Amino acid sequence: MFDFQITARSGRARTATFVTPHGTVQTPMFMPVGTQGTVKGISPQELTDIGSQIVLANTYHLLLRPGPDLVAAHGGLPGFTAYPGPFLTDSGGFQVMSLGHMRQITEEGVTFKSHLDGSSVYLSPERSIEVQQGLGADVIMAFDECPPYPAERGYIQASLERTVRWLERCLTFKSRDDQALFSIVQGGIHEDLRQQSLDATLPFSTPGFAIGGLAVGEGKAEMYGAVEYTAARLPAGKPRYLMGVGHPEDLVAGIALGVDMFDCVYPTRTGRFGYALTDDGRVNMNSSAPRNDLNPLDPECDCYACRHYTRAYLAHLIRAEEMLAPRMLSLHNLRYLHRLVERARAAVHEDRYAEWAMTWAERYFKGKH
Ligand code: GUN
Ligand code: ZN
Repeated sequence: MFDFQITARSGRARTATFVTPHGTVQTPMFMPVGTQGTVKGISPQELTDIGSQIVLANTYHLLLRPGPDLVAAHGGLPGFTAYPGPFLTDSGGFQVMSLGHMRQITEEGVTFKSHLDGSSVYLSPERSIEVQQGLGADVIMAFDECPPYPAERGYIQASLERTVRWLERCLTFKSRDDQALFSIVQGGIHEDLRQQSLDATLPFSTPGFAIGGLAVGEGKAEMYGAVEYTAARLPAGKPRYLMGVGHPEDLVAGIALGVDMFDCVYPTRTGRFGYALTDDGRVNMNSSAPRNDLNPLDPECDCYACRHYTRAYLAHLIRAEEMLAPRMLSLHNLRYLHRLVERARAAVHEDRYAEWAMTWAERYFKGKH
């Protein structure tokens, strides 16, 4: 279980198969975000149809509502959501920082007020693992602290040291052996702090390693620098997961730097806002041009929306505020990212990843730089 077998390499990019209790998946992969136990507007059948492999769910949200006991009463997330494939749950540390009010962080854990009803909630390494065991995902994440950006160096250092002590407590508490616990490397955009986090985290030899603390407001150059430094120092034989990252260009760049797994709300969120991802860049379907355009959203895409609808019809749905619009744009955008990583995997297999990535980027950014 959780065997990670590299199948091809091209530069630092690699493809692999990763075995989980709910199925074997191909990396590099993009994981749709199903925060509340649903990828907004998309059914499990649709996820399977577009090639989703692992769905991400959030400990923070499911702890507050409906509570892990109800999910456990359904046999965990697959029974609760009817999505039969693998899940990954984030630990809650990151969401407490972005959504919780009146946070109090101590060595023991974090007390915060729920963003739903203001009630007081407690999360600690032990409680996060207990909840994640109830949710029953195949991959669970260590309870970490992701400092805001910018943050003082001293704070980032203290926080990464605490994250390591919390990792040890997560591993001590964990009792299910059908769940892989991934550790999370922190350290912001400082190489020496990334190195400290790596030095302290690598000895735990977790079945996978995440790169956390990025895409929080730093620039792209800073983010790619931190990914390059960190990914190069992670063990070759374990999956590497870049948390919360998922613009198309970040996937293409991250794969080049040796990243295997990504997640982001971007494709579904930007789809709900009326934007469609294509190889020619992001199309604003709220603008006037698509209103009379009888072409599909993306002629190269095989998703349901692109096979059946014109841009004009989808633009009409958006203007009429019909709920099919955000559904179809989310479906298309997810399929776009799945197809992007499928093409990346094919390029790695043919050992022409760098060339493929350059060609993709030239077209994607044409006229935009
Ligand atoms: N999601 C995006 N970034 C992070 C991070 O640093 N930690 C956790 N737990 N989740 C994240
Ligand atoms: Zn499509």
